[in-house]
Amino acid sequence: MFHFFNRKKTPLIDIIPHDFIDFHTHLLPGIDDGSKNLDESVSLIKRMNGYGIRNFICTPHIMEGVWFNTPTIINKKLIELKSYLKSLEISDISITAAAEYMVDGNFNNLLKSKELITLDGEHILIELPYFNLPYKVYEILFNIQMAGYKPILAHPERYVYLHKNYTEYQKLKDAGCIFQLNLLSLSTHYGKHIQTIALKLLKDNLIDLVASDVHNHRHLDSLESIDNPSIVKLVKPLLKKNILDYNCPFSTS
Ligand SMILES: [Fe+2]
Repeated sequence: MFHFFNRKKTPLIDIIPHDFIDFHTHLLPGIDDGSKNLDESVSLIKRMNGYGIRNFICTPHIMEGVWFNTPTIINKKLIELKSYLKSLEISDISITAAAEYMVDGNFNNLLKSKELITLDGEHILIELPYFNLPYKVYEILFNIQMAGYKPILAHPERYVYLHKNYTEYQKLKDAGCIFQLNLLSLSTHYGKHIQTIALKLLKDNLIDLVASDVHNHRHLDSLESIDNPSIVKLVKPLLKKNILDYNCPFSTS
């Protein structure tokens, strides 16, 4: 039978390069809204490893009044996860930890303390509030860079208040933000409106890097559903770019 509408599918998970670094994940157990326990962390990692992903950076939330994570708590969890992986003889992956910093009332204090956990020695992952752009955001971005860090803005496509104020994206980039798109935003997981802006940002060459921002298995179900050839083609060059921009000292031990 001739299927006129049956276009060839291209699963995104089939084209992830072997040396892709997923630098935005919530795989550390029990310290934010990501993985709930060690077994869930391992099953998520194994499932992603099935896509060919070997390099992970765990980025638990640090958010005033919600997630009180510190470098000490995060590193303790990382050691716990790594030793659990070792006990299960899972050795072909690299896993390190950083954080996803909410630009909130406490962020300037953290910045002054100079104890921010970076992804690779210089880049920090930040997220913005979901209801409005902080009015001091440009001052904060300036301060981040004056302190010697480079800000990577997590999922710019998810801040709905920017959708109708599209020129603000360029302003944020001009202020030094590196844009990280969530691969999940290429599905309709967060809604059709997020997917539309994600595709627009990609087409306008505003996205620098991509990562999964995976929290749970439902996220991976959505990731596995991305198979539209034109969408996959659009994001493909960015899957490679990740590797060039990050020279993290990964270790499997
Ligand atoms: Fe995140």
